[in-house]
Amino acid sequence: MKFTDSPVIELAVGESTLCLQQDNGSMHVGTSVWPCSLVLVKFAERWSPLLNPTLNPNPYSSLLDFRGKRGVELGAGCGPAGMGLYLLGLNDIILTDIAPVMPALKHNLKKNKPMLKKTLKTAQLYWANGAHMKAISPPYDVVIAADVVYLEETVRPLVETMAVLMAEDGVVLLGYQLRSPEAHKLFWEGCAEVFEIEKVPHEHLHPEYNYEETDVYIFRKKKDNWQFLMRRLLLKDIDWIMEVFSNEITGKTKADHQLLLLIGEMENVNSA
Ligand SMILES: C[S@@+](CC[C@H](N)C(=O)[O-])C[C@H]1O[C@@H](n2cnc3c(N)ncnc32)[C@H](O)[C@@H]1O
Repeated sequence: MKFTDSPVIELAVGESTLCLQQDNGSMHVGTSVWPCSLVLVKFAERWSPLLNPTLNPNPYSSLLDFRGKRGVELGAGCGPAGMGLYLLGLNDIILTDIAPVMPALKHNLKKNKPMLKKTLKTAQLYWANGAHMKAISPPYDVVIAADVVYLEETVRPLVETMAVLMAEDGVVLLGYQLRSPEAHKLFWEGCAEVFEIEKVPHEHLHPEYNYEETDVYIFRKKKDNWQFLMRRLLLKDIDWIMEVFSNEITGKTKADHQLLLLIGEMENVNSA
């Protein structure tokens, strides 16, 4: 379902209004604006501690307190989710997508520059592409993704990318709608291996952006995630992993020690 065929979609976020231009005639789904993004932003707006400091109780106050956090959006399309969360305080954010969608993304960032007061960062990022992930310097505190689960073959790379990019105590904020039963099954199986999954109750969504078919999820890393990730990635590109995680490795947390042990084990296996 597309939200509207109108070429321009307005999204009010706090005192600001984003103006998003979409091209529904293009062959790339990323040049349209999809409801998941709007639902995700309006959920975050409803519970934003920045906009509603006196809201009490607020079960999402710490999750949505973006001060000092780094964010990355995967499959940003025209950029509504990334821009919306930026307006809610996620100041250090980078929006990513595939090459053919970058013109639509950049066009929308330019159009909204007066509202955003700056041009947000963008990068080409094809899911699970090691060089692309490395180029944006993980880890990230907040990984944003909206309506990105629709092709079976991209599901595993997507889950891998989320896991690689997010910090140990980071979160994924996901706007989700079922698009393909096959992709759906693979995605949730993959996520269950890597993440603790929390579904936002529908009554917590914004009353005006609350559709039966659209959900918001919060993922946090499972404690044994490092092993899972390394097992999947190590055989492919050990040098890349060592480089990407070098900061964590020298930081010597418990997870780092686990990683070092695992790398040692895998090196033994490889050289045997
Ligand atoms: C349905 S659109 C959603 C766009 C935007 N998030 C929204 O909600 O309006 C899916 C997005 O995922 C991106 N995408 C699909 N496969 C991808 C891949 N393998 N690597 C990176 N981005 C991908 C598409 O280019 C597109 O922008």
